[in-house]
Amino acid sequence: MKKRVFSGVQPSGSLTIGNYFGAIRNFAKLQHEADCFFCVVDLHALTVPQDPATLRENIKNTARLFIAAGIDPRVSTVFVQSQVSAHSELSWLLECQTYIGELRRMTQFKAKAGKQDVVTTGLLTYPVLMAADILLYNTDLVPVGEDQKQHLEITRDLAIRINNRFQEEIFKVPEPYIPPRQSGGRIMSLTDPGEKMSKSAENPKSYITLLDPPDLIKKKIMSAVTDSEATIRYDEGQKPAVSNLMVIYSLCSGESLEAITQKYEGCGYGQFKKELAELLVETLRPLQEKFHELSAPGVIEEILADGANRARAAAEPKLRLFQEKLGLLPFA
Ligand code: AMP
Ligand code: TRP
Repeated sequence: MKKRVFSGVQPSGSLTIGNYFGAIRNFAKLQHEADCFFCVVDLHALTVPQDPATLRENIKNTARLFIAAGIDPRVSTVFVQSQVSAHSELSWLLECQTYIGELRRMTQFKAKAGKQDVVTTGLLTYPVLMAADILLYNTDLVPVGEDQKQHLEITRDLAIRINNRFQEEIFKVPEPYIPPRQSGGRIMSLTDPGEKMSKSAENPKSYITLLDPPDLIKKKIMSAVTDSEATIRYDEGQKPAVSNLMVIYSLCSGESLEAITQKYEGCGYGQFKKELAELLVETLRPLQEKFHELSAPGVIEEILADGANRARAAAEPKLRLFQEKLGLLPFA
């Protein structure tokens, strides 16, 4: 039996190379050994204010980027969360099993809530919807970046709590699949290496999106912060900015961090950055070309309609089972 894989990405703006190296690139690798579901989690994006027309475009573009990054929609199921209503329905049932205290403790909630003028309930219950996404599909593995670790833990706690209550395995307890930092688990901001790279950051120089044109990529890499030592070596503690650039280099070229250190011995940051920018442009070029091909009218819509049908068929039995266990009437 193949393992089941599920992951989701929010359609909140253009995806960054952090999303790519931390998550999406691994999706494409996993699809040949596992039965994969990849979801554009649009309902999660609604936890913070969104402009409707922009959101609609972002949903389609995120799905296009999945496919441009190598996910084959005939092999993997690619779909949009809001088109499979079982996600919202299970989320409510799970909310009734979740403690407010455990949601308040989430670091992402605390960070995001601190930035908003008003904090919606959705921002608090966000991890429960994510648990519903995962638990509906009997998921074995969830490929995500390091920032999602805590949300995966709450998902596991909920599954275990419910299985214990009913004394049987209703939900499979999923495992996280998080790359180590040196392999892209946490790509840092180019302007502040203490923060993760994020598409919602205020300074656009802090991130590189998958659709940035070559000139812009070069500018952003050349203006990335470094340090005063002028030596290219990997040291997360002492040299976080240079270490982050080295990780990106290594992910683009396939060379180890040691090999990169040797290659640039005695070189200044200028030359290293220039070559890194060229490598990154070449890494993203095929993805950008594929993205534009997928922009023809109707193409992505058709893929997503088929994906939603397949996802609905996979998700509904689990929802019905849990409804019945809870004492709700069988679905007429
Ligand atoms: P999001 O854009 O928050 O929906 O994230 C989509 C996926 O990308 C999740 O698996 C995140 O953990 C991952 N991710 C987001 N930002 C980064 C980053 N800077 N480095 C590594 N992975 C990331
Ligand atoms: N919360 C995730 C993020 O911000 C996105 C997400 C929603 C997700 N549902 C998921 C990731 C299910 C993995 C599995 O990145």
